[in-house]
Amino acid sequence: MAEPEFATDFPSETVKEGKVRVVVPKLEAFKKQPSDYAPSKAPVFYNPVMELNRDIAVLASQAYQRMVNREISICEPLTSSGIRGVRFAVEIHGVKKVVMSDINERAFKLAKHNVHINGLEERISVKHKDANCLLSCHGAPRKRFDIVDVDPFGSPVPYLDSAIRAMRNKGLLAATATDLAPLCGVHAKACVRKYGGKPLRTEYCHELAVRLLAGCIVTLAAKHDIGIRVVFSHSTDHYIRVYAEIAYGAKKADESIKNLGYVLHCFNCFHREAMQSPFNQRVEKCPECGSKLDYAGPLWLGKIFDKQFCEVMAQENMHVAFRNSVKIAKLIALAREEAEAPATYYVIDKISNKLSLPVPSVAAMLRILHDEGFQAFPTHFNSRGIRTDASALVLQNLLQKIVATVKQKVFPSR
Ligand SMILES: C[S@@+](CC[C@H](N)C(=O)[O-])C[C@H]1O[C@@H](n2cnc3c(N)ncnc32)[C@H](O)[C@@H]1O
Ligand SMILES: [Zn+2]
Repeated sequence: MAEPEFATDFPSETVKEGKVRVVVPKLEAFKKQPSDYAPSKAPVFYNPVMELNRDIAVLASQAYQRMVNREISICEPLTSSGIRGVRFAVEIHGVKKVVMSDINERAFKLAKHNVHINGLEERISVKHKDANCLLSCHGAPRKRFDIVDVDPFGSPVPYLDSAIRAMRNKGLLAATATDLAPLCGVHAKACVRKYGGKPLRTEYCHELAVRLLAGCIVTLAAKHDIGIRVVFSHSTDHYIRVYAEIAYGAKKADESIKNLGYVLHCFNCFHREAMQSPFNQRVEKCPECGSKLDYAGPLWLGKIFDKQFCEVMAQENMHVAFRNSVKIAKLIALAREEAEAPATYYVIDKISNKLSLPVPSVAAMLRILHDEGFQAFPTHFNSRGIRTDASALVLQNLLQKIVATVKQKVFPSR
Protein backbone atom coordinates (compact mmCIF):
# COMPACT_ATOMS: atom_id res chain seq x y z
CA MET A 1 0.00 0.00 0.00
CA ALA A 2 1.32 3.47 -0.90
CA GLU A 3 2.32 5.65 2.06
CA PRO A 4 -0.07 8.55 2.76
CA GLU A 5 1.38 11.85 1.56
CA PHE A 6 2.91 13.81 4.45
CA ALA A 7 1.82 17.42 4.99
CA THR A 8 2.52 19.59 8.01
CA ASP A 9 -0.55 21.19 9.61
CA PHE A 10 1.39 24.47 9.89
CA PRO A 11 3.22 26.70 7.39
CA SER A 12 6.48 25.03 6.42
CA GLU A 13 9.26 25.24 3.85
CA THR A 14 12.23 23.24 2.66
CA VAL A 15 15.67 24.55 3.62
CA LYS A 16 19.17 23.41 2.75
CA GLU A 17 21.73 23.17 5.53
CA GLY A 18 25.08 21.39 5.22
CA LYS A 19 24.48 18.59 2.74
CA VAL A 20 20.81 18.00 3.50
CA ARG A 21 17.41 19.39 2.60
CA VAL A 22 14.79 19.28 5.33
CA VAL A 23 11.28 20.59 5.92
CA VAL A 24 11.07 23.12 8.77
CA PRO A 25 8.43 25.58 10.01
CA LYS A 26 8.20 28.74 7.90
CA LEU A 27 9.31 31.14 10.61
CA GLU A 28 7.89 34.39 9.18
CA ALA A 29 4.41 32.88 9.48
CA PHE A 30 4.81 32.69 13.27
CA LYS A 31 6.15 36.18 13.81
CA LYS A 32 3.21 38.36 14.85
CA GLN A 33 5.32 41.25 16.14
CA PRO A 34 8.87 42.28 15.22
CA SER A 35 10.01 41.42 18.78
CA ASP A 36 8.64 37.84 18.57
CA TYR A 37 11.23 35.05 18.79
CA ALA A 38 9.85 32.97 15.92
CA PRO A 39 11.70 29.67 16.60
CA SER A 40 9.81 29.10 19.84
CA LYS A 41 6.46 30.39 18.44
CA ALA A 42 6.40 27.70 15.75
CA PRO A 43 4.73 24.36 16.60
CA VAL A 44 8.06 22.61 15.94
CA PHE A 45 11.23 24.33 17.11
CA TYR A 46 13.67 25.38 14.41
CA ASN A 47 16.39 27.99 14.77
CA PRO A 48 18.44 28.81 11.65
CA VAL A 49 20.93 30.72 13.84
CA MET A 50 21.96 27.37 15.36
CA GLU A 51 23.38 26.24 12.01
CA LEU A 52 26.88 26.99 13.30
CA ASN A 53 26.19 24.92 16.42
CA ARG A 54 25.12 22.01 14.17
CA ASP A 55 28.11 22.52 11.82
CA ILE A 56 30.51 22.30 14.76
CA ALA A 57 28.62 19.25 16.08
CA VAL A 58 29.20 17.58 12.70
CA LEU A 59 32.91 18.46 12.79
CA ALA A 60 33.42 17.37 16.40
CA SER A 61 31.57 14.09 15.84
CA GLN A 62 33.58 13.44 12.68
CA ALA A 63 36.82 14.24 14.54
CA TYR A 64 35.75 11.79 17.25
CA GLN A 65 34.94 9.10 14.66
CA ARG A 66 38.32 9.60 12.97
CA MET A 67 40.08 9.26 16.32
CA VAL A 68 38.28 6.05 17.39
CA ASN A 69 38.47 4.79 13.78
CA ARG A 70 35.37 2.56 13.77
CA GLU A 71 31.67 2.79 13.00
CA ILE A 72 29.78 4.83 15.58
CA SER A 73 26.22 5.30 16.85
CA ILE A 74 24.71 8.65 17.81
CA CYS A 75 21.69 9.62 19.89
CA GLU A 76 19.94 12.98 19.59
CA PRO A 77 17.21 12.77 22.24
CA LEU A 78 15.75 16.29 21.70
CA THR A 79 15.63 16.50 17.94
CA SER A 80 12.69 18.79 16.97
CA SER A 81 12.66 18.83 13.11
CA GLY A 82 15.41 16.19 13.00
CA ILE A 83 17.77 18.50 11.12
CA ARG A 84 20.77 17.71 13.35
CA GLY A 85 20.36 13.92 13.34
CA VAL A 86 19.75 13.87 9.57
CA ARG A 87 22.95 15.88 9.08
CA PHE A 88 24.85 13.45 11.33
CA ALA A 89 23.76 10.46 9.23
CA VAL A 90 24.49 12.15 5.89
CA GLU A 91 27.60 14.20 6.63
CA ILE A 92 29.62 12.14 9.11
CA HIS A 93 31.62 9.32 7.65
CA GLY A 94 31.36 6.05 9.63
CA VAL A 95 27.94 6.55 11.26
CA LYS A 96 26.19 3.20 11.55
CA LYS A 97 23.06 4.32 13.41
CA VAL A 98 21.33 7.48 14.64
CA VAL A 99 18.49 7.39 17.16
CA MET A 100 16.54 10.60 17.56
CA SER A 101 13.46 11.48 19.56
CA ASP A 102 11.11 14.30 20.48
CA ILE A 103 8.28 14.44 22.98
CA ASN A 104 6.31 16.80 20.72
CA GLU A 105 4.18 14.74 18.35
CA ARG A 106 4.38 17.25 15.49
CA ALA A 107 8.17 17.35 15.84
CA PHE A 108 8.30 13.55 15.86
CA LYS A 109 6.23 13.38 12.65
CA LEU A 110 8.28 16.08 10.95
CA ALA A 111 11.57 14.41 11.94
CA LYS A 112 10.27 11.12 10.54
CA HIS A 113 9.36 12.86 7.29
CA ASN A 114 12.80 14.45 7.05
CA VAL A 115 14.42 11.05 7.53
CA HIS A 116 12.16 9.69 4.75
CA ILE A 117 12.88 12.43 2.18
CA ASN A 118 16.60 11.95 2.76
CA GLY A 119 16.27 8.17 2.28
CA LEU A 120 17.71 7.39 5.73
CA GLU A 121 15.14 4.98 7.21
CA GLU A 122 17.71 2.19 7.38
CA ARG A 123 20.15 4.15 9.52
CA ILE A 124 17.95 6.55 11.53
CA SER A 125 15.20 5.54 13.89
CA VAL A 126 12.88 8.26 15.19
CA LYS A 127 11.07 7.88 18.51
CA HIS A 128 8.23 9.79 20.11
CA LYS A 129 9.58 9.48 23.64
CA ASP A 130 10.64 11.57 26.57
CA ALA A 131 14.42 12.08 26.30
CA ASN A 132 15.20 10.63 29.74
CA CYS A 133 12.99 7.63 29.07
CA LEU A 134 14.73 6.95 25.73
CA LEU A 135 18.22 7.40 27.19
CA SER A 136 17.43 5.19 30.19
CA CYS A 137 16.30 2.42 27.82
CA HIS A 138 19.80 2.62 26.33
CA GLY A 139 21.65 2.34 29.64
CA ALA A 140 22.50 -1.35 29.31
CA PRO A 141 25.97 -2.37 28.03
CA ARG A 142 25.21 -3.34 24.44
CA LYS A 143 22.61 -0.65 23.89
CA ARG A 144 24.79 2.36 24.60
CA PHE A 145 25.84 5.08 22.13
CA ASP A 146 29.23 6.45 21.10
CA ILE A 147 27.87 10.01 20.98
CA VAL A 148 24.94 11.61 22.78
CA ASP A 149 24.08 15.16 21.68
CA VAL A 150 21.87 16.97 24.19
CA ASP A 151 20.50 20.14 22.59
CA PRO A 152 17.52 21.32 24.64
CA PHE A 153 15.72 24.58 25.40
CA GLY A 154 17.60 26.19 28.29
CA SER A 155 19.59 23.88 30.52
CA PRO A 156 20.80 20.40 29.50
CA VAL A 157 21.15 19.32 33.15
CA PRO A 158 17.80 17.43 33.42
CA TYR A 159 19.06 15.05 30.71
CA LEU A 160 22.71 14.64 31.62
CA ASP A 161 22.49 11.78 34.09
CA SER A 162 20.58 9.53 31.68
CA ALA A 163 22.79 10.71 28.79
CA ILE A 164 25.92 9.65 30.69
CA ARG A 165 24.37 6.27 31.52
CA ALA A 166 23.55 5.75 27.83
CA MET A 167 27.18 6.23 26.75
CA ARG A 168 29.81 3.67 25.87
CA ASN A 169 33.21 3.85 27.51
CA LYS A 170 35.27 6.59 25.75
CA GLY A 171 32.09 8.05 24.26
CA LEU A 172 31.58 11.72 23.46
CA LEU A 173 28.93 13.75 25.27
CA ALA A 174 27.88 17.04 23.65
CA ALA A 175 25.66 19.48 25.52
CA THR A 176 24.25 22.92 24.69
CA ALA A 177 23.15 25.36 27.40
CA THR A 178 21.16 28.44 26.41
CA ASP A 179 20.31 29.47 29.99
CA LEU A 180 23.08 32.03 30.17
CA ALA A 181 21.25 34.26 32.66
CA PRO A 182 21.82 31.70 35.45
CA LEU A 183 25.22 30.56 34.15
CA CYS A 184 26.56 34.11 33.79
CA GLY A 185 25.40 35.17 37.23
CA VAL A 186 22.26 37.21 36.47
CA HIS A 187 20.21 34.56 38.30
CA ALA A 188 22.90 33.12 40.53
CA LYS A 189 20.56 31.05 42.71
CA ALA A 190 19.17 29.22 39.65
CA CYS A 191 22.74 28.35 38.63
CA VAL A 192 23.54 26.91 42.06
CA ARG A 193 20.33 24.88 41.94
CA LYS A 194 20.82 23.54 38.43
CA TYR A 195 24.59 23.29 38.05
CA GLY A 196 25.70 22.94 41.68
CA GLY A 197 28.14 25.85 41.41
CA LYS A 198 28.06 29.61 42.04
CA PRO A 199 28.45 31.79 38.93
CA LEU A 200 30.04 35.25 38.85
CA ARG A 201 29.18 38.29 36.70
CA THR A 202 32.68 38.92 35.44
CA GLU A 203 34.01 39.84 31.99
CA TYR A 204 34.91 36.15 31.53
CA CYS A 205 31.52 34.82 32.67
CA HIS A 206 31.07 32.82 29.43
CA GLU A 207 34.20 30.82 30.19
CA LEU A 208 32.93 30.33 33.75
CA ALA A 209 29.63 29.12 32.23
CA VAL A 210 31.51 26.44 30.25
CA ARG A 211 33.41 25.47 33.40
CA LEU A 212 30.21 25.32 35.50
CA LEU A 213 28.53 23.03 32.95
CA ALA A 214 31.68 20.85 32.73
CA GLY A 215 31.85 20.76 36.55
CA CYS A 216 28.24 19.60 36.69
CA ILE A 217 29.01 16.82 34.16
CA VAL A 218 31.99 15.71 36.30
CA THR A 219 29.84 15.45 39.42
CA LEU A 220 27.04 13.55 37.67
CA ALA A 221 29.48 11.19 35.91
CA ALA A 222 31.43 10.51 39.12
CA LYS A 223 28.30 9.02 40.73
CA HIS A 224 28.55 6.27 38.12
CA ASP A 225 32.36 5.86 38.51
CA ILE A 226 32.92 7.71 35.25
CA GLY A 227 35.53 10.39 34.61
CA ILE A 228 35.49 13.10 31.94
CA ARG A 229 37.88 15.10 29.78
CA VAL A 230 36.69 18.22 27.99
CA VAL A 231 37.92 18.05 24.40
CA PHE A 232 36.20 21.12 22.97
CA SER A 233 33.89 23.92 24.04
CA HIS A 234 32.66 27.20 22.66
CA SER A 235 30.56 30.19 23.50
CA THR A 236 28.64 31.58 20.54
CA ASP A 237 25.69 34.00 20.33
CA HIS A 238 23.26 33.10 23.12
CA TYR A 239 24.60 29.69 24.14
CA ILE A 240 27.57 27.65 25.29
CA ARG A 241 28.49 24.16 24.21
CA VAL A 242 30.68 21.51 25.87
CA TYR A 243 32.12 18.35 24.29
CA ALA A 244 33.40 15.87 26.88
CA GLU A 245 34.91 12.45 26.41
CA ILE A 246 33.85 10.08 29.17
CA ALA A 247 35.95 7.24 30.59
CA TYR A 248 34.75 4.41 32.80
CA GLY A 249 36.52 3.73 36.09
CA ALA A 250 36.49 4.96 39.70
CA LYS A 251 40.09 6.19 39.32
CA LYS A 252 39.12 8.22 36.23
CA ALA A 253 36.26 9.74 38.23
CA ASP A 254 38.65 10.58 41.11
CA GLU A 255 41.08 12.22 38.67
CA SER A 256 38.27 14.32 37.20
CA ILE A 257 37.11 15.43 40.63
CA LYS A 258 40.64 16.71 41.30
CA ASN A 259 40.02 19.22 38.51
CA LEU A 260 37.09 20.78 40.37
CA GLY A 261 37.71 23.99 42.24
CA TYR A 262 37.01 27.68 42.46
CA VAL A 263 37.97 30.89 40.68
CA LEU A 264 38.52 33.75 43.12
CA HIS A 265 38.01 37.22 41.70
CA CYS A 266 38.68 40.78 42.82
CA PHE A 267 36.16 43.22 41.37
CA ASN A 268 38.42 46.14 42.32
CA CYS A 269 41.72 45.32 40.59
CA PHE A 270 40.72 42.37 38.32
CA HIS A 271 43.03 39.96 40.15
CA ARG A 272 41.86 36.35 39.84
CA GLU A 273 43.20 32.97 40.85
CA ALA A 274 42.09 29.36 40.52
CA MET A 275 42.29 27.03 43.49
CA GLN A 276 41.03 23.58 44.40
CA SER A 277 39.58 24.62 47.71
CA PRO A 278 39.16 28.18 49.00
CA PHE A 279 39.36 26.72 52.50
CA ASN A 280 42.97 25.49 52.18
CA GLN A 281 44.15 28.92 53.08
CA ARG A 282 42.04 31.70 54.54
CA VAL A 283 41.58 33.53 51.25
CA GLU A 284 39.29 36.41 51.87
CA LYS A 285 41.26 39.41 50.70
CA CYS A 286 42.80 40.17 47.32
CA PRO A 287 46.57 39.71 47.61
CA GLU A 288 47.08 42.64 45.19
CA CYS A 289 44.80 45.36 46.59
CA GLY A 290 43.29 44.01 49.82
CA SER A 291 39.66 44.20 48.61
CA LYS A 292 37.24 41.42 49.49
CA LEU A 293 37.40 38.52 47.02
CA ASP A 294 34.33 36.93 45.47
CA TYR A 295 34.30 33.45 43.95
CA ALA A 296 32.75 31.17 41.34
CA GLY A 297 32.42 27.41 41.74
CA PRO A 298 32.79 24.63 42.33
CA LEU A 299 33.57 24.36 38.63
CA TRP A 300 35.90 22.57 36.20
CA LEU A 301 39.44 24.00 36.37
CA GLY A 302 40.91 21.53 33.86
CA LYS A 303 41.40 22.09 30.14
CA ILE A 304 38.36 23.15 28.13
CA PHE A 305 39.95 22.37 24.74
CA ASP A 306 42.20 19.51 23.64
CA LYS A 307 44.84 20.65 21.15
CA GLN A 308 44.85 17.40 19.16
CA PHE A 309 41.05 17.28 19.02
CA CYS A 310 41.05 20.89 17.72
CA GLU A 311 43.60 19.94 15.08
CA VAL A 312 41.48 17.03 13.79
CA MET A 313 38.41 19.30 13.77
CA ALA A 314 40.35 21.93 11.80
CA GLN A 315 41.37 19.30 9.23
CA GLU A 316 37.77 18.14 8.89
CA ASN A 317 36.64 21.72 8.43
CA MET A 318 38.95 22.00 5.40
CA HIS A 319 37.07 19.14 3.69
CA VAL A 320 33.61 20.68 3.99
CA ALA A 321 31.94 23.73 2.50
CA PHE A 322 29.67 25.06 5.22
CA ARG A 323 28.22 28.57 5.01
CA ASN A 324 30.11 29.14 8.29
CA SER A 325 33.40 27.44 7.37
CA VAL A 326 35.54 30.59 7.57
CA LYS A 327 34.04 31.62 10.91
CA ILE A 328 34.49 28.08 12.24
CA ALA A 329 38.10 27.90 11.04
CA LYS A 330 38.85 31.08 13.04
CA LEU A 331 37.04 29.75 16.11
CA ILE A 332 38.91 26.42 16.05
CA ALA A 333 42.27 28.14 15.44
CA LEU A 334 41.73 30.35 18.49
CA ALA A 335 40.56 27.40 20.60
CA ARG A 336 43.61 25.37 19.54
CA GLU A 337 45.92 28.17 20.74
CA GLU A 338 44.08 28.83 23.99
CA ALA A 339 44.05 25.09 24.78
CA GLU A 340 47.36 25.42 26.63
CA ALA A 341 46.73 28.88 28.10
CA PRO A 342 45.86 29.74 31.70
CA ALA A 343 42.22 29.75 32.84
CA THR A 344 40.26 33.03 32.62
CA TYR A 345 41.02 36.02 30.42
CA TYR A 346 41.29 39.76 30.90
CA VAL A 347 39.32 42.28 28.87
CA ILE A 348 41.82 45.06 28.40
CA ASP A 349 39.11 47.69 27.91
CA LYS A 350 37.86 47.11 31.47
CA ILE A 351 41.29 47.67 32.99
CA SER A 352 42.00 50.69 30.75
CA ASN A 353 38.64 52.25 31.64
CA LYS A 354 39.24 51.70 35.34
CA LEU A 355 42.59 53.50 35.03
CA SER A 356 41.07 56.17 32.73
CA LEU A 357 43.60 55.27 30.06
CA PRO A 358 43.11 55.00 26.30
CA VAL A 359 42.46 51.41 25.18
CA PRO A 360 45.29 49.80 23.17
CA SER A 361 44.66 47.25 20.45
CA VAL A 362 44.65 43.58 21.44
CA ALA A 363 47.57 43.02 19.02
CA ALA A 364 49.64 45.72 20.77
CA MET A 365 48.88 44.25 24.17
CA LEU A 366 49.76 40.71 23.05
CA ARG A 367 53.05 42.02 21.63
CA ILE A 368 54.09 43.84 24.79
CA LEU A 369 53.19 40.84 26.97
CA HIS A 370 55.33 38.55 24.77
CA ASP A 371 58.18 41.10 24.84
CA GLU A 372 58.02 41.06 28.63
CA GLY A 373 58.29 37.26 28.64
CA PHE A 374 54.68 36.39 29.47
CA GLN A 375 52.37 33.93 27.77
CA ALA A 376 49.63 35.78 25.90
CA PHE A 377 46.84 34.45 23.70
CA PRO A 378 43.66 35.90 22.22
CA THR A 379 40.48 33.98 23.05
CA HIS A 380 37.43 32.96 21.03
CA PHE A 381 35.27 33.90 24.04
CA ASN A 382 35.81 37.62 23.54
CA SER A 383 37.49 39.47 20.67
CA ARG A 384 38.89 41.97 23.23
CA GLY A 385 40.05 39.26 25.65
CA ILE A 386 43.59 38.13 26.45
CA ARG A 387 44.69 34.99 28.28
CA THR A 388 47.98 35.50 30.04
CA ASP A 389 50.03 34.37 33.00
CA ALA A 390 50.71 38.02 33.82
CA SER A 391 48.89 39.29 36.91
CA ALA A 392 46.28 42.05 36.87
CA LEU A 393 48.86 44.36 38.48
CA VAL A 394 51.40 43.65 35.73
CA LEU A 395 48.72 44.37 33.12
CA GLN A 396 47.93 47.71 34.75
CA ASN A 397 51.64 48.64 34.71
CA LEU A 398 51.99 47.58 31.07
CA LEU A 399 48.95 49.62 30.05
CA GLN A 400 50.51 52.66 31.71
CA LYS A 401 53.80 51.92 29.96
CA ILE A 402 52.09 51.75 26.54
CA VAL A 403 50.43 55.13 27.12
CA ALA A 404 53.71 56.67 28.31
CA THR A 405 55.53 55.34 25.20
CA VAL A 406 52.85 56.73 22.86
CA LYS A 407 52.96 60.13 24.63
CA GLN A 408 56.73 60.12 24.36
CA LYS A 409 56.44 59.57 20.60
CA VAL A 410 53.79 62.24 20.14
CA PHE A 411 55.27 64.84 22.55
CA PRO A 412 59.02 64.10 22.74
CA SER A 413 60.76 66.20 25.39
CA ARG A 414 62.76 69.02 23.81
C1 LIG B 1 15.99 23.30 21.21
S1 LIG B 1 14.93 22.11 20.51
C2 LIG B 1 16.02 21.02 19.69
C3 LIG B 1 16.72 21.60 18.51
C4 LIG B 1 17.45 20.58 17.67
N1 LIG B 1 18.36 19.79 18.46
C5 LIG B 1 18.16 21.27 16.52
O1 LIG B 1 19.39 21.18 16.38
O2 LIG B 1 17.46 21.93 15.72
C6 LIG B 1 14.42 21.17 21.88
C7 LIG B 1 13.42 20.09 21.55
O3 LIG B 1 13.26 19.27 22.70
C8 LIG B 1 11.93 18.80 22.73
N2 LIG B 1 11.66 18.36 24.10
C9 LIG B 1 11.42 19.11 25.20
N3 LIG B 1 11.34 18.32 26.30
C10 LIG B 1 11.54 17.05 25.87
C11 LIG B 1 11.61 15.81 26.54
N4 LIG B 1 11.45 15.71 27.86
N5 LIG B 1 11.87 14.71 25.80
C12 LIG B 1 12.04 14.78 24.46
N6 LIG B 1 11.98 15.95 23.78
C13 LIG B 1 11.74 17.07 24.48
C14 LIG B 1 11.11 19.97 22.27
O4 LIG B 1 9.86 19.53 21.77
C15 LIG B 1 12.03 20.58 21.19
O5 LIG B 1 11.67 20.10 19.92
ZN1 LIG C 1 42.31 43.32 44.06
